[in-house]
Amino acid sequence: MKKDVRILLVGEPRVGKTSLIMSLVSEEFPEEVPPRAEEITIPADVTPERVPTHIVDYSGKDYTVYKIGLSIPLFLKLLTFSFGVVFRLPLILVGNKSDLVEYSSMETILPIMNQYTEIETCVECSAKNLKNISELFYYAQKAVLHPTGPLYCPEEKE
Ligand code: GTP
Ligand code: MG
Repeated sequence: MKKDVRILLVGEPRVGKTSLIMSLVSEEFPEEVPPRAEEITIPADVTPERVPTHIVDYSGKDYTVYKIGLSIPLFLKLLTFSFGVVFRLPLILVGNKSDLVEYSSMETILPIMNQYTEIETCVECSAKNLKNISELFYYAQKAVLHPTGPLYCPEEKE
């Protein structure tokens, strides 16, 4: 049975999380964005996998994790511990602002992908050029619905 998919955008401040969501929704690059986009729900019939999909923004400005000096991978581990059992959240690694660079960042990304098995896939995109925007959200949806690794580890929380 297919449940709703929730996609949470996390990343350092100013990387373009809010712009990516707004570009997806309006199909154009928003010159000005609020720190955080309202949660949006994409109805099942307009998603490729036919599953209602919620997209949740996270503002760098709200990041208590940064204030107490936590890294994003550690933050995600803590997030998974807030469930009663340990879930493995599938991750998509996103390189936004590809319009600003001539080269591909794949060489930088591959070692990170090897280090974190949670990373299902990576994608280079640009909220500004609308490059790979719908693809990115599709990959995220696919990572939840058809993960390549186990999503559930039956270890009890300590
Ligand atoms: P916080 O909410 O502060 O964590 O930032 P954010 O990750 O939501 O970034 P935001 O969408 O506010 O974008 C930060 C800046 O980057 C803004 O000036 C955007 O216009 C710009 N920006 C976002 N995406 C792109 C992109 O693909 N290309 C370029 N050139 N600029 C971008
Ligand atoms: Mg933002």
